[in-house]
Amino acid sequence: MTPNSQKPTLKMEYLPVLQELQKIKRPIEARELSRKLHLGYEKLMSGAIYSLQEQKLAKFTEREEVLLHLTEEGKEYVKKGLPERQIFALFQEKGYKEIKVSEFAKSVEMELGFNKKLFFIGLSHMKKNKWVVTSKATGEETIFVYNEDAPKSSLEEILQIYGDNQVIPLSSISKPLQEYLPQLLKRKLITREKVTIRMVELTPEGYMIKPNEINLIEEEIQMISSDMIKSGEWKESINKLKKYDVEIEGPKIYAGKYHPMTIIKNQVREVFHSMGFQEIQGPIIELAFYNFDSLYQPQDHPAREMHDTFYLKHPKTGKLPKKSYVETIRSIHENGGDTGSTGWRYKWSSEIAKKLLLRTHTTATTLRYLAKVGLEKPQLPIKVFCIDRVFRNEKVDRTHLAELQQIDGIIIGENVTLSDLIGQITEFYKRMGFKKVITRPGFFPYTEPSMEVSVYSEELGAWLEMGGSGIFRPEVTYAWGIKHPVRVLAWGLGLERLAMLKLKRDDIRDLYQSKISWLREVSY
Ligand code: PHE
Repeated sequence: MTPNSQKPTLKMEYLPVLQELQKIKRPIEARELSRKLHLGYEKLMSGAIYSLQEQKLAKFTEREEVLLHLTEEGKEYVKKGLPERQIFALFQEKGYKEIKVSEFAKSVEMELGFNKKLFFIGLSHMKKNKWVVTSKATGEETIFVYNEDAPKSSLEEILQIYGDNQVIPLSSISKPLQEYLPQLLKRKLITREKVTIRMVELTPEGYMIKPNEINLIEEEIQMISSDMIKSGEWKESINKLKKYDVEIEGPKIYAGKYHPMTIIKNQVREVFHSMGFQEIQGPIIELAFYNFDSLYQPQDHPAREMHDTFYLKHPKTGKLPKKSYVETIRSIHENGGDTGSTGWRYKWSSEIAKKLLLRTHTTATTLRYLAKVGLEKPQLPIKVFCIDRVFRNEKVDRTHLAELQQIDGIIIGENVTLSDLIGQITEFYKRMGFKKVITRPGFFPYTEPSMEVSVYSEELGAWLEMGGSGIFRPEVTYAWGIKHPVRVLAWGLGLERLAMLKLKRDDIRDLYQSKISWLREVSY
């Protein structure tokens, strides 16, 4: 080992930086140092300071700081005093004890050049500071001295801190005085800027070291080339080699990735595909006919109201399917048609069914599919699912969104039963990672029997409701030729609840307005 190898190594051009820091003898703000040395900030930090730090001759600390800059107007008042101070000084100079506001405004304009607006700003602060009071007791509004001494106001105390500087850090102002900063900001006398302050300082070794104790090099060799090895040049250059610390952690790299919601949606798709289902899609802008009427939802059902459903303004209505189908739905609602039901027994209106709306559930889409295939008389069983956006007129908060996503599915098959339905739903959640699933009796206008579906969250130690399910009533399926012994099992589950459990979020909005810091770290 050559004796040189124990000496710290430094590029020649960085020596003045070390020497300057030795001269300064105290921590210095990096930008100030860069100004002093006439050296670019980036170059200073990533070159000289970085090398000095590597050689343990210097260190730097970082902190966030808020800087308060004086505006042009602010600078003027630091010199001459705030308008209220200037006006008060004039007031005393003239030896007034009281004077009419209008009269005084004129003399302020003449003597100080303040316009009306500035005069009144000044006056209001003189009053706030309790230097003067105004009264209309004598008829016209008059100013009276209240405190001859006119003690320094908090705003003045802040401006005083500036001294000859145009910028000061927030931390140089005491906490109680900071309360008054909004006033100065509002008066546009100062502006705020958030910056990262880097303080550079030499280590004890850095302060002590002399140039002859440093292995000064012209240029650093970043990498040994094959030529250098062949020629043996590497041996002579060994002291010029850039030193590496193999233990230092590399910078974090955040690779591009899918949003967790996309991943969960794809997982849902994969699970259904693995269970033999095919994905279907349908329109977001839907006819009330498919969203409600075909699902045997009476036309006075509360869910149809404007406060639950978004209706379209332009165009207000859409085209209903063939008249015979519309008539079938009408008779089912009015008297049950050929379903064996008595119907809802009211006058059904095709005008209401024609309305266009934003789909409130993806059951509208499974129903559209059911209507299509029912008429085609296909091979059974059929298993399809739909995972897509739905809309409800809800006030957005930590548990509600106006735009959400649902997972609907149907199984059309001969003699399929409620047990099949429970089995399929349970299997779906199992494959999604939820071991315990429970179904309880529920109610939907379109299913009989109906069940609510809940899963158990080990984390929360609670059952959470996920959605609804059931067997479509004859009032729903007969219209499309689907009759006993063929039955339709159906469900509609929320995607967000499931995603919140998987992603451990307790605010539903996080899923869609996700913080970038969370997205970077989330292991999904
Ligand atoms: N559409 C119902 C909802 O939005 C869920 C559901 C779908 C219930 C299918 C039964 C059958 O909550």
